Amino acid sequence: VDKIRVKISRTPYDVLIGAGLLRRAGREVLRLLPEKSSQVFVVTSPDVRRHWGEVLEGSLERARLKYKVLEMNDGEPAKKLEIVERAAEQMVEAGADRKSLVVAFGGGVVGDAAGFLAAIFMRGLPVIQIPTTVVSQLDASIGGKTGVNLKAGKNLIGAFHQPRVVLVDPDVLATLAEREFRSGLFEALKCGVIRDARLFEFMKKRAGLILERQSAAVRRIIVDSVRVKASVVSADERESGVRRILNFGHTVGHALEAATGYTHLLHGEAVGWGMIAAAHIAREVRCCTPAVCDEICSLVAAYAPLPALAVNTGDVVARMASDKKTVGGAVHFVLPQKIGKVKIAAGVPPAIVHAAVDALRNYA
Ligand SMILES: NC(=O)c1ccc[n+]([C@@H]2O[C@H](COP(=O)([O-])OP(=O)(O)OC[C@H]3O[C@@H](n4cnc5c(N)ncnc54)[C@H](O)[C@@H]3O)[C@@H](O)[C@H]2O)c1
Ligand SMILES: [Zn+2]
Repeated sequence: VDKIRVKISRTPYDVLIGAGLLRRAGREVLRLLPEKSSQVFVVTSPDVRRHWGEVLEGSLERARLKYKVLEMNDGEPAKKLEIVERAAEQMVEAGADRKSLVVAFGGGVVGDAAGFLAAIFMRGLPVIQIPTTVVSQLDASIGGKTGVNLKAGKNLIGAFHQPRVVLVDPDVLATLAEREFRSGLFEALKCGVIRDARLFEFMKKRAGLILERQSAAVRRIIVDSVRVKASVVSADERESGVRRILNFGHTVGHALEAATGYTHLLHGEAVGWGMIAAAHIAREVRCCTPAVCDEICSLVAAYAPLPALAVNTGDVVARMASDKKTVGGAVHFVLPQKIGKVKIAAGVPPAIVHAAVDALRNYA
């Protein structure tokens, strides 16, 4: 098992990564139980439970834990305050109190919503994250950002609430739909571009193995990506500085998701498109060489297909300005300087942004 420390000031914790770890989850939960009599609330989705519920529940039973499973729907449209409220009502009915513990068992939607539930239930319960998608294993479960969407936009309601531990078992990715799996890999590629040239190289050389979900290859990219995320988050808990580099590909990506109504693209796919746009911008403002831009675009293409875009460029550009991460009206871009190194840039000429988004539509 690989153990990666997230060095958050008040509440440091580990991300444990290991094949078959789910079978030993009970032991970890037991270790972190606030009190002997504490109740455990496993929040999961019907799909995740169908595939992996037995394994987790078996492990909790062997550890003689008192637990209850609560189901919530996942997928982006389900990520609403409503599912948090319903789960909270069920917890009260089942006798939850301040000594209870929440286990968030699922993809990023369950992780964000159950993490938020833990943050606010009786003003805060401890939470353990057990992520089950590529996106959540290498990104969403780490760093303590929790929340749900509003009609007006994604993740507009939320709280920082760090987990006590994150348990990552790459074996559970075996049942993930092909498109979900592929989409998550763009976040790993992002980690390579911003901080880890060796990860980038590995993803270039081993694209075939990774896409076949060869266990050692998948585990390696998860471990490397978690290291990147953990180190960035440790340096900047609340996203005021360096943490913003994790948004590489996301400035344009978020705008594309919004412009297509959050139904056309999976998040990772939007990031894939966004990284191509950011690479084009970096080349045009001479932040990187054309060769670096090509390398990034080619590696995104190696993990394609990405759903074709039929968007209005003006609309996409306008949405960037209204993104919640925009600071005082200035749109910030994370731009590659070389593979493994990026910088944050404001004041990119609008014509260059426009051209970069326009270029996406011509990508086959
Ligand atoms: N908190 C953060 O820092 C952070 C970072 C990145 C993304 N996110 C959030 O994560 C969400 C996206 O997460 P996601 O991509 O995991 O989506 P998701 O949670 O909706 O899961 C995608 C699909 O995979 C299914 N699934 C999950 N695990 C499975 C498994 N092991 N086998 C088979 N099917 C499985 C789910 O039922 C769902 O249909 C977004 O809402 C995004 O905002 C948060
Ligand atoms: Zn992302």
